[in-house]
This record gives sequence, C-alpha cells and structure tokens, in this order.
Amino acid sequence: MLEKVESLLKEVKGFTPKSNKDLENFRLKYLGKKGEINKLFKNFKSVPNESKKGFGQEINKLKKSVQDKVDAFKDSFKLSKKSKNIDLTRPINIDGLGSRHPISLIRNQITSIFNKIGFSISQGPEVEDDWHNFSALNLPEEHPARDMQDTFFIQTNPDILLRTHTSSVQVRYMEKNKPPIRTLSPGRVYRNEAVSARAHCFFHQVEGLYVDKNVTFADLKQVLLYFAKEMFGEQTKIRLRPSYFPFTEPSAEVDVSCNICNEKGCNVCKNTGYLEILGCGMVDPAVLDNCGIDAKKYNGYAFGMGIERIAMLKYGINDLRLFFKNDIRFLKQFSSL
Ligand code: PHE
Repeated sequence: MLEKVESLLKEVKGFTPKSNKDLENFRLKYLGKKGEINKLFKNFKSVPNESKKGFGQEINKLKKSVQDKVDAFKDSFKLSKKSKNIDLTRPINIDGLGSRHPISLIRNQITSIFNKIGFSISQGPEVEDDWHNFSALNLPEEHPARDMQDTFFIQTNPDILLRTHTSSVQVRYMEKNKPPIRTLSPGRVYRNEAVSARAHCFFHQVEGLYVDKNVTFADLKQVLLYFAKEMFGEQTKIRLRPSYFPFTEPSAEVDVSCNICNEKGCNVCKNTGYLEILGCGMVDPAVLDNCGIDAKKYNGYAFGMGIERIAMLKYGINDLRLFFKNDIRFLKQFSSL
C-alpha cells in the first residue's frame, strides 16, 4: 500500500499540465470522488492498526502535493480561458489606418474650389495622339515651341506620345461639347526631364478652360485671385507677368504672394516675395477653330498648374521626389488631413 502511495507521489511530482483541461483531468484523477485519494482512504480499513498513522500521513502528503500542483498551475492558462470570452464587438485596432496622398489632397482641394464656381471635371487618356497634345493647340509640327515640353514619344509610332499637359483633355472636351464650357482637367502628365528635387519625368496638373461669349482677361484675373485666396488664405495677392504659350494670346504667368515671409523675401521665394504657381491666357482663336468652336462668336480663357508645386508650397516640402517614393514616414504625416 505504502508503495502505491509512493509511486503516486512520484507521478504527481513529475506531472506538468499543458492546458487547463490537462490540469482539471489531473485534479479529478486524484481529488475527484472516484479519484485515487478516495480509493486509498477506502482501503484504510484493511491497513493494520500500527501502520494507520504513517499511512494516513502519506496519503495526506499526497493530497497536499496534488493540491499544491493544482494551485501552482491554475492561473497559468488564464489566456486560453479568456480566449473563450473574446469580445467580437470591440473596434479593431485603428493604428494601421492609411492616409490620402498629398497629391490627392491638393487635387481635391483645387477641384472643389473650382467646383464652387461651376467648373466640372473632365478626363482623358494619358497616352495621347499628336493632334490633341500639340497640333490642335496651335503647335503644328516643327513648331519650335514644342521644345518647351520634352516629350516621350512612342518609338514605333511618332504620332503617339505620353501627354505633356492636360490641355489635351480640353481639346477633347471642346470637340464634343458646345459653349458655354467650364471644365477642369486634373491628371498625370509626362515630360522627359532629369529627375531632381524640382523636376520629375511625370507629375500632376490641373488645367481649367472657360469658353463663352464676351469673356475677358478681367474674368480670368478675378477667378485666379479667388482661387489664390481660397487656396493660400484671404491675405494672398496675385501678380501676373506677361508670358508666352502657343495656345493662349495674350498669355501670363501667375505668382502668389509668399506667405512664408509675407512678401519680405526669403529663400523659398528667392527674395522676390512672390512664388510662381500657374500659366494662363486667353484661348487663341485658332485653337477654338481647331476644335470646332466658332471663334468669331466665342472666346475664353485657360489656365494650368502643377499639383506638386502647390503641394510643396502648402506643406513646405522641399523635394519633389518625396511624392513618389512611397515612404510611409512621409505619407503618414498627412493622415489627419
Ligand atoms: N499647358 C501649359 C503647361 O503645361 C499650362 C497652361 C495651360 C498655360 C493653359 C496656359 C493656359 O505648361
């Protein structure tokens, strides 16, 4: 009998439960109603009187070691107990939420500013033909102004190219729609330029077109002032400098007052107090004619700006390449916008 107790004691000492279930089975095996310890007590009667004391002590020792084991392990499997009570209605961890790309943020801002004054969005293909990207825009073949935009041509077919500006979308729009026209074309454009902090082989533009009767340069100027104030703040001023674009006449480049130094001059505005943000002008009558709009009856204005440039000014970004690196540390900074 004593040997039996001894061997059970050994068994208990050597036991390590792997789960709650394991531990419970172990407890039942020894401490349960039909367990080993009760069995031993049942045999108590047959133990000779003189051995009863020692035997009883041994059983109690065994009982205690079983209880100690159960106590020692009963908390170790808490997790698995908990997993049965998972709260499925708890919100998921929101740390991993993404953010909009700064280019999308600025594009949306620009388009909503113009939406408010009646401009709607139009889109067109990024792989364009010569007509829509150049010829219709008063840039016939061999025209030197084609060199203003270094173009990616498709080698096997020089008539096909990657659009260098979204003015091509405006040509398509004019071919299909009658005035009055108020359209905005945001999109990606491509130019064969060396990649640097200030230039990339692709970037994004928003171009606008307004065609109606009796449109004047004053209308254009007023719309651009409205845009600059909405985009950069009420205190913003604009400045127009005469310029040249083949598809507009007269043409101008537009600067906004530098709101970093308040026109006092800083390294961002190169001490001029102003920053260039877009090109614009009155649509050349030849362009209207090319697109099937009677230039004797209608006229209009157009403008175009780079989204990256506006984003750089707005967010104080000094390297254009950051927009296209997909560096999560950069992109995360826009998650609250
Ligand atoms: N298409 C011109 C460019 O990409 C911008 C522009 C648009 C200028 C409309 C004048 C009028 O540089």
